[in-house]
Amino acid sequence: MANLAFSDPEFQRIADLMYQAVGLSYNASKKSLIHSRLAPRIQKLGLGSFADYILILEDESEAAEFQMAVDLLTTNETYFFREPKHYDLLQQELPNSAGKAALSVWSAASSFGDEAYSTAMLLSDLQIAGRIGPDWSILATDISHRVLLSAKEAVYPQDRLRAVSPERLRRYCLRGEGDSEGQVLLQDKIRQRVQFGQLNLCKDFGGLGPFDVIFLRNVLIYFDPATKVDVVDRVLALLKPGGLFFLGTAEGRVPCKTPLQTVIPGAFRKAV
Ligand SMILES: C[S@@+](CC[C@H](N)C(=O)[O-])C[C@H]1O[C@@H](n2cnc3c(N)ncnc32)[C@H](O)[C@@H]1O
Repeated sequence: MANLAFSDPEFQRIADLMYQAVGLSYNASKKSLIHSRLAPRIQKLGLGSFADYILILEDESEAAEFQMAVDLLTTNETYFFREPKHYDLLQQELPNSAGKAALSVWSAASSFGDEAYSTAMLLSDLQIAGRIGPDWSILATDISHRVLLSAKEAVYPQDRLRAVSPERLRRYCLRGEGDSEGQVLLQDKIRQRVQFGQLNLCKDFGGLGPFDVIFLRNVLIYFDPATKVDVVDRVLALLKPGGLFFLGTAEGRVPCKTPLQTVIPGAFRKAV
């Protein structure tokens, strides 16, 4: 399938469909990426060409296949306690800012849930230490149905938990045995704290929040500059004044109109 023909107009049509529906932005340099991600799917469906696949993507009754294409085109790379300094900051700041009041956190492009569950482990530890109250919750959303199904199961290859401390592994995880050797299941006390839901950041998502902490890490790369600003400002509208906002540290300056103060690379506080 590596040699399945893919014309420039076909590339442009797929790029337009993804932009209109999901905000994903692809310039010409991404043509071979789109080809490599979708060609195996076209083969699996027994179709002969990208043109045939485009007809399916254009057909509104084929929403499940559209979702599949989105899944294939986005990257879901994530792992537990990615960017540890962000979690160190939460550990320092939350007891000061929230005290024993209720706390709510949003992982806004959660992928397989690693970010949300890492935060749940940290908040649970803070609660055990008496540094925050018991009333805390985490919402985790993503556009991809596939990653959300997997996140709810909360079973991970051991390697994804490489940055989890031995104490936390003991306290919150169960190691698989036999056929499940090499896999880790998160305990109910952590799973129960995280609610998962499907949400497209490029569509209206009013009615959520307000949140004390929002993670929007490693998702803006999919969007063009105007969409980035729009998404970030709409997300920040749901963050409480003084709340903490996280982007991936490699993502650079926050593109937004909402006043923010930089705390450490990739971590910002919303103006009070
Ligand atoms: C690289 S993962 C980031 C995971 C996690 N935040 C982290 O930093 O480890 C990016 C996620 O963004 C999701 N995504 C892409 N476009 C999206 C959109 N328009 N709305 C919501 N999620 C989206 C993808 O499905 C993917 O799971």
